[in-house]
Amino acid sequence: MVQRQSSLPLSAGVNKKGHLIIGGCDTVDLANEYDTPLYLLDEFTLRSKCQEFKAEFSQRYADTTVIYASKAFLNGAMAVILREEGLGLDVVSAGELEIAKSVDFPMDMVYFHGNNKSAEELNMAIKYHIGRIVVDSQDELEMLAAMAEETGHIPDIMLRITPGVDAHTHEHITTGIIGSKFGIPLFAADELVKKAMSAPSLNLVGLHFHIGSLIAEAQPYQEAIEIVLDFAADMKQKHGFVLEELNIGGGFGVQYITGETVPQVSIFAEAVVSRLISRCRRLELSLPMLTIEPGRAIVAQAGVALYKVGVIKDIPGIKRYVSVDGGMADNIRPALYGSPYEAFVANKMLEEEAEQITIAGRFCESGDILVKDINLPPITRSDIIAIPVCGAYNLSLQSNYNASLNPAVLLVKEGKERLIRRRQTYEDLTGCDLL
Ligand code: LLP
Repeated sequence: MVQRQSSLPLSAGVNKKGHLIIGGCDTVDLANEYDTPLYLLDEFTLRSKCQEFKAEFSQRYADTTVIYASKAFLNGAMAVILREEGLGLDVVSAGELEIAKSVDFPMDMVYFHGNNKSAEELNMAIKYHIGRIVVDSQDELEMLAAMAEETGHIPDIMLRITPGVDAHTHEHITTGIIGSKFGIPLFAADELVKKAMSAPSLNLVGLHFHIGSLIAEAQPYQEAIEIVLDFAADMKQKHGFVLEELNIGGGFGVQYITGETVPQVSIFAEAVVSRLISRCRRLELSLPMLTIEPGRAIVAQAGVALYKVGVIKDIPGIKRYVSVDGGMADNIRPALYGSPYEAFVANKMLEEEAEQITIAGRFCESGDILVKDINLPPITRSDIIAIPVCGAYNLSLQSNYNASLNPAVLLVKEGKERLIRRRQTYEDLTGCDLL
């Protein structure tokens, strides 16, 4: 019996046939019925994470708003669940904004981010009266001020500050260091606060920072909070700036594999809130509204990827490759960041882990390896491999590499599945081509 279950969705179990169950559904039956690669989203885990973030932060700090970072994964059904759970939405493109709009997501709960928002995107944001536009540069500030003046609507904006804090994560996903392409470096921010405050067409409500993703410690948040609050106090003194809202971004880490230690949401909440309150007291600032933007920590654990085993290749004394029918087109994270994953044989959950194998994707890159050197029960062709913690940054980073079809997504709950995204068809692939 496989013992490593910590990273599976909260509803995971094993039935009498020895099959992995998620959301009360037999994953092997689903894989056979809907074909593979197939993504499952466990609704119970997803909603539990939304509720956990809301509860852990707001019981310590009532004026907290939780904004889900849609770049982790978004579609219509997902947006409806977030709306039902009372979360807001962080979008970074017209596309994400349109998905939100398509399900009547409350626009005042939408935050617009990005280091290069187009004029079209800023126009949409103004026209839809979204909650906040998070301004990333002087260039954007000037463009937005001019555009808002023409429409007559005064958008609420925040300035994204780069606090100069190292979040100790992968260099591709660290964003808080000075020199990052994101945000306004602290030393240049004074000028922009002044500019934003004096723009009659804009309403500056607060400051934002996001120091990185997959952060496994609370201390970098505390450092960044201090730096940004010190800056706010300085701006108060110099320009009469009032910090109504502090947005500390997302980045809360999750556990991908056994043995990784990642703080519970309650630990992050305690560290953030205690430092926010103590620093505000010391600086004699009134307590601002607190906004957090978790993406991965909301959706990662809810997602499971299912693949079917094809070719098994032995390189004697070196490796045993088990190839599956998906890979870097639906999960580029191992190739891009060297991210580790675990796997289960969904139809052999009660068997001993008797052999060490490597799970290879089917795409034409040597780097397309999903899981390296893992002990699993003896595997044969057509077995179903389940990889947990695949809910975040898998499908949102998917590609059609090798003209592959993007997988279907099922929402599972209490023994029932619901197709929330159909598998692509060959017509989808060829449909945009003109001869
Ligand atoms: N807020 C802002 C402004 C962000 O840029 C991000 C993520 C988040 C919130 C949410 O961060 P999270 O809570 O999901 O860590 N593709 C990478 C992750 C890129 C994160 C980009 N920004 C990966 O697969 O690890």
